[in-house]
Amino acid sequence: MNDDFSPEEKNGFYKAVFSRRDVRSHFTSEPIDEKVLSRILNAAHHAPSVGFSQPWNFILIKDKDTRKKVKESFDKERIRSSNLIDDPKRSKYLSLRLEGILDSAVNVCVTYDPSKFGPFVIGRSSIPETGIYSVCCAIQNLWLAARTEEIGVGWVSILSNDELKKILEIPEHVVPVAYLCLGHVTKFAEKPDLETAGWLSRLDLKDVVYYEKWNSSDDPQWRQIHEMIVSNLDYA
Ligand SMILES: Cc1cc2nc3c(=O)[nH]c(=O)nc-3n(C[C@H](O)[C@H](O)[C@H](O)COP(=O)(O)O)c2cc1C
Repeated sequence: MNDDFSPEEKNGFYKAVFSRRDVRSHFTSEPIDEKVLSRILNAAHHAPSVGFSQPWNFILIKDKDTRKKVKESFDKERIRSSNLIDDPKRSKYLSLRLEGILDSAVNVCVTYDPSKFGPFVIGRSSIPETGIYSVCCAIQNLWLAARTEEIGVGWVSILSNDELKKILEIPEHVVPVAYLCLGHVTKFAEKPDLETAGWLSRLDLKDVVYYEKWNSSDDPQWRQIHEMIVSNLDYA
């Protein structure tokens, strides 16, 4: 096998990255082919993990009653969190569509189990959060693989983890990291929904890259390279 990526393969990768979207409102009721779902989950399972601990599990949820319970948790948390902000922001927040729990073909709860392979995991003793980071790597693999398979994914974090643990009978020591809605979609939006709704927009690359030290953004050479990259239409 040739280890290099051909230009077409590179384009394919960047297409997945740039056209991946968080999907809430464009799900169809068409079921996901089980082979496709297995490929997506296998991509997630090939993510990097601290000390190769593979601390993830994927709970696949199709049952409507279970999903209704999760949706009730969302409804409660949505109202609770809306009380943290004042109008007009509150009304705007409440007008946003932020989940596809019942409309999507399947829900997937991705969990973190710190007990896998015993208490000593290479690389996790100094920074315990690396366990959760590993699960997030798996979630991103899942998200990109799903996009490649034309399956939309929406991450729902407006939930009570305590309620989720009860509903899904997750053991005490296991942490739910993501609650995802997966399904076929009518479209992948060009821009993030929150950008289209005028909530926030993407920051410029030059404003998030520092040179050598925190907050040092003054390197003309790098700046030039970043500008070139941003305007390079091949991979955007
Ligand atoms: C950790 C995490 C939690 C999120 N929680 C929610 C959520 O509860 N509801 C929602 O609609 N989108 C949620 N999102 C999706 C983000 O809003 C979305 O990624 C962001 O607006 C950028 O849009 P894009 O993913 O389409 O590029 C979440 C994303 C992440 C990474």
